Amino acid sequence: MKKPTIIAVLCHKGGVAKTTTAVALADGLAADHPAAKILILDCDEQANVKTLFGIKSNSQERGIASVLIENTHPSQVKISVRPQIDVILSGGRMMRDFEKTFANATDSELILTRLMKPFDADYDYVIIDSPPALSLISANIAMYAEYCLIPCTTDLLAVVGVKNTMFFLENLRNHFQAKNLSPCKVLGVVPTMYDQRRNLDMTILDDLQRMADADLMSGGVVYDPIRVDSKIKTAQIKRKLITEAYPKSKAREDYQKLAQSIHQTVIKVGLTKTSAQRQDSRANFEPEVAV
Ligand SMILES: Nc1ncnc2c1ncn2[C@@H]1O[C@H](COP(=O)(O)OP(=O)(O)OP(=O)(O)O)[C@@H](O)[C@H]1O
Ligand SMILES: [Mg+2]
Repeated sequence: MKKPTIIAVLCHKGGVAKTTTAVALADGLAADHPAAKILILDCDEQANVKTLFGIKSNSQERGIASVLIENTHPSQVKISVRPQIDVILSGGRMMRDFEKTFANATDSELILTRLMKPFDADYDYVIIDSPPALSLISANIAMYAEYCLIPCTTDLLAVVGVKNTMFFLENLRNHFQAKNLSPCKVLGVVPTMYDQRRNLDMTILDDLQRMADADLMSGGVVYDPIRVDSKIKTAQIKRKLITEAYPKSKAREDYQKLAQSIHQTVIKVGLTKTSAQRQDSRANFEPEVAV
């Protein structure tokens, strides 16, 4: 059975372009691979994926919260938004009930994996948008995803957010080691809203690179930055993907390059592994993306 490559866009810090990156990555992968089927899974109660696609309220809006809490089958809440792209919305504030209900349950970090696995084989890629918090749902995302990508704006607090996210993954790794399970492998950090005219932005980029060189990114790399580009906001207001609204924009060019780098990395590990092999690869894989 075909298995998807599952990539979480994860970061403790708010406003670093997690949602923008998750959607642009799905968009870029779809553009490069016309036969690929991609699922965007929104696990943030802010439900920003719903807004970006201009999805009107309907029963599927209960989304992943309903899957997690009410045992709804994921196929009942998926919504097709483009020929190659489906989304599962978050369910908004209902996500809070998940945290409350399962906070003290055993292995509650593995619920998302258990519920999504029987469904996700229809997809080549599952891209997950995460909340700006290292909560139970973030732990579930980290255990379900095979890889994660950490967006980071070029400011000090965002770099702290990267470090906190690494620490969070390390704790999960230690916690599940005895069960021979591991959280997602860090593909790397992607600097976002980068402005090369600002000295501070270049300094932060250097800092991130030094962190990677000192092996403080769990084997992850620093990807080429995504430049600040007002076209992103305008495309979002129009409820369009960047490839649709501004195919010649800086943001489209940068996100396309990112999608290509990530695709190159994951095909080295193989797109069609079994779950068991997948767990092994999490343990052994070292990203080899040129930076
Ligand atoms: N390259 C870019 N250039 C200009 N603006 C950008 C760029 N990337 C993202 N933005 C804008 O930055 C803001 C924050 O982006 P986004 O909502 O994706 O962040 P987030 O990390 O998902 O936030 P949250 O933590 O609240 O979920 C949005 O208004 C978005 O339009
Ligand atoms: Mg977001």
